Amino acid sequence: MRISRSSPWPILVAFIAGTVILGVLTSSFRGVWNPREGLEFVARTPSGVPGFPPAFAYLISGTGGESKRMLRLLKAVYHPRNKYLLYMDAVSSEEERTALAVCVRLEKVFRVFRNVHMVGKSYAVDSTGPSSLAATLHGAAVLLKMGGEWDWFVTLSSSDYPIVTQDDLLHTFTDLPRDLNFVDHTSDLGWKRYHRFERITVDPNLYMGNNSKPFIAKESRRSPDAFTIFTGSPWVILSRSFVEYCVHGWENLPRQLLMYAANVPFPLEFYFHTVLCNSPQFRNTTVNGDLRFFVWDNPPKEEPLLLNMTHFRRIVRSGAAFARRFAEDDVVLRNLDRKVLRRSSAAGRWRCTEGAAEAAEKAQCGSWGDIGAVEPGPSGRRLKSSVAGLVAEERRRSDQCRSR
Ligand SMILES: *[C@@H]1O[C@H](CO)[C@@H](O)[C@H](O)[C@H]1NC(C)=O
Ligand SMILES: *[C@@H]1O[C@H](CO)[C@@H](O)[C@H](O)[C@H]1NC(C)=O
Ligand SMILES: *[C@@H]1O[C@H](CO)[C@@H](O)[C@H](O)[C@H]1NC(C)=O
Repeated sequence: MRISRSSPWPILVAFIAGTVILGVLTSSFRGVWNPREGLEFVARTPSGVPGFPPAFAYLISGTGGESKRMLRLLKAVYHPRNKYLLYMDAVSSEEERTALAVCVRLEKVFRVFRNVHMVGKSYAVDSTGPSSLAATLHGAAVLLKMGGEWDWFVTLSSSDYPIVTQDDLLHTFTDLPRDLNFVDHTSDLGWKRYHRFERITVDPNLYMGNNSKPFIAKESRRSPDAFTIFTGSPWVILSRSFVEYCVHGWENLPRQLLMYAANVPFPLEFYFHTVLCNSPQFRNTTVNGDLRFFVWDNPPKEEPLLLNMTHFRRIVRSGAAFARRFAEDDVVLRNLDRKVLRRSSAAGRWRCTEGAAEAAEKAQCGSWGDIGAVEPGPSGRRLKSSVAGLVAEERRRSDQCRSR
């Protein structure tokens, strides 16, 4: 009798599925980890308490061939307080997803704090179609389901990069009300009224296994009159309470708009904006800004320009938290790592000593520092003042979501 040799991949995948992907779910921790005590933690963080650093839940998405960039981005936005969920779409192969999961597993600090997870199965997504909204809501739902305390949901793609350290970001958000939503929005639709809201798009990624391009139907439809449409940047920072509202949908508005969005091109440029601004409960929590830095071509194309060293000064002085789009391994990323994120040395007090990242890898580091202690650098002070300006501007207005 012949016994066919099975490939090692299914076993490896199953192993990783059981251990890394949606493994033991943990919360934000405060406290000190001692390698001699094994993977045990003490004292949970009372996150959500004003005056205490918050925690972010990051959804990092990418497509086939982008796992290296995703890993680099993950390391650049890593902080033990936060939660991370990685998602790769159907263009990626199982081997690539497995390799990414293995890389995550091999990083000691991710293992210790158990706050990096990956969606095991992939499905088709197109960034211009409604499948992108489905994937974002799926990521948000998984981050909620994983439990643990986090305060804001942040969406990033593999061509994004942070331009402040996590300490800068945590410090900036420490004193902010936890219910604020950072969504760049307007109800001035302009050319989008016809091209986005009167045309009907069909996204095959919602019903086909492989990635494919959405198409536009010949018929058009009337603009909605049951709600006011708001559009803006697809990159958002949403409060946990608003994410729960969208995911659980105990009011009809989020679901009604979701079903409407099933035929709207670029729904990430309208969905959260429109739900927020049409909801009496949440409209006062909007801050009109996405904290991102882009440079647009003239006239603007679908995506912002690729950033390079000629933009470096503007990036650093922008007062934003993230920038896009970067080419893989661009020299500007190395400069951001070295000069802004200070990643060659220990960035963040939670790393115990100078060069602790490497020391900790070798378990020479006795304990991790206090992950509740955040120390902003110069870019953190710029970010703090730009966010304070945005929030103050919104507070002065009597109505945050102005209709034009
Ligand atoms: C996706 O495409 C690949 C190659 O083109 C094919 O082998 C595979 O069966 C397709 N998968 C699905 C779910 O359609
Ligand atoms: C940097 O980007 C700008 C705008 O995209 C472009 O005009 C310029 O040629 C680029 N410079 C380099 C050195 O690649
Ligand atoms: C929102 O702000 C407006 C204007 O200040 C106020 O009238 C309204 O009561 C606020 N809504 C909520 C839910 O706080």
